[in-house]
Amino acid sequence: MLILVVGATGNLGQLLAQAALDRGHRVRALGRSPDKLSASLATQLESFVRSENYYDIPALDRACHSVDAIIVAYQGIPTLQLEGQLLLLRSAERAGVKRFVSTSWNYDWRNTSLGQQDSYDAYISFRRHVELSSSIKPIYIFTGVLAEVLFSVDGHGDFSPRNHGVWDPVAKSIAMYGTGEETWPDFGTYNPNPCKLNLLKYSNREYKLNLRLKNDCQDSTILIRLALGLYPIVYAEVWTWHWTTESDAAELTLEILGTEGVEEGGFWTVYSGEHTLPQIATIYEQVRGTKVTIDRLGSVEDLRRTALEARAAGNPQNYWEYIGYLYQLYTLDRTWTLGNADYEKIPNFKPTTLEDSLVVTRKYNGLTSVEFFHVQESLLTRIP
Ligand SMILES: NC(=O)c1ccc[n+]([C@@H]2O[C@H](COP(=O)([O-])OP(=O)(O)OC[C@H]3O[C@@H](n4cnc5c(N)ncnc54)[C@H](OP(=O)(O)O)[C@@H]3O)[C@@H](O)[C@H]2O)c1
Repeated sequence: MLILVVGATGNLGQLLAQAALDRGHRVRALGRSPDKLSASLATQLESFVRSENYYDIPALDRACHSVDAIIVAYQGIPTLQLEGQLLLLRSAERAGVKRFVSTSWNYDWRNTSLGQQDSYDAYISFRRHVELSSSIKPIYIFTGVLAEVLFSVDGHGDFSPRNHGVWDPVAKSIAMYGTGEETWPDFGTYNPNPCKLNLLKYSNREYKLNLRLKNDCQDSTILIRLALGLYPIVYAEVWTWHWTTESDAAELTLEILGTEGVEEGGFWTVYSGEHTLPQIATIYEQVRGTKVTIDRLGSVEDLRRTALEARAAGNPQNYWEYIGYLYQLYTLDRTWTLGNADYEKIPNFKPTTLEDSLVVTRKYNGLTSVEFFHVQESLLTRIP
């Protein structure tokens, strides 16, 4: 395939381009700043289409011409997610491109309404507008938080406590709400979402019934269970963070693009792993031999209050000032729970374990070889 990677000069874009090349595809890149590409990657490209900005329509049309698939890896800001992607989608329509991986690699925002988490509004709006107006059926990929962002690797996003995130890369500490051992479903916890009931297949003999309850709808849930005529096993799940390394995100995207019927679009859930914050601390200590301290900031309900107050007082155009709280909240109250991953549909994809990514980082200490992808290089230098 000839694959166009949009935002190919970015963190994920460069990995996506390399993952496509490694599978024997030809890769065309679209971006404003070819200088940001590594020299080795630049020489392997079919071409680099340089644009002035995201609304440089002639450049978008040149980039989309004759490609078999498009992967959009624009920076995660609303203008690019909505306007930028729509302009690109129209160029893709003109060029007759059917396979379109929309910029995503985030939590499952299908459970999020407009205004609930500012940084996801553009994704939600794009999805709906495409449904209403385009013949293209995009692919959306849910991975949870990118590991490089969770760990605040320099240049990949700052989710440290100063932005109301969790990992302090300097102090080697975790700032967290709750105990880390909360389970779900929690019948006593107020949840702003409507009731939800998902029956997930665990194995041929076991099913998992996921309940999401408002305090006032337990009766309807019981009725649904009776109507199903099932006595499913209800697992109490410990609240976890779903996370994915950037390189896994790139690899799995290319695996998904290689599956049959991908032009029909749809939603994929794949992640590297899921852990509670105390588990992350323990694994980090084991692998790195560095003590991690945990600062407990209050209960999950304290977090909810703080997050909602901060959002109400904040300016949506500066949402970075408060969305860190909301990322934590919706992870902890499972608004964004990812559920079962779609691994069986992409059997060649082997997720990286947290231990492995930390060990691999050590193993390559000091190397600058091109195989040593920059994510782990950054982890090496920033999370020693
Ligand atoms: N789940 C998570 O934790 C998480 C975290 C971060 C990102 N993400 C997802 O991953 C995607 C890619 O993120 P990333 O971190 O790889 O992005 P990035 O490196 O910050 O940016 C990607 C590219 O966007 C292009 N760009 C920026 N402003 C532009 C403009 N005004 N016009 C045209 N192009 C512009 C830049 O290319 P040029 O300078 O060459 O134009 C840049 O290299 C995001 O959209 C988001 O959906 C998820």
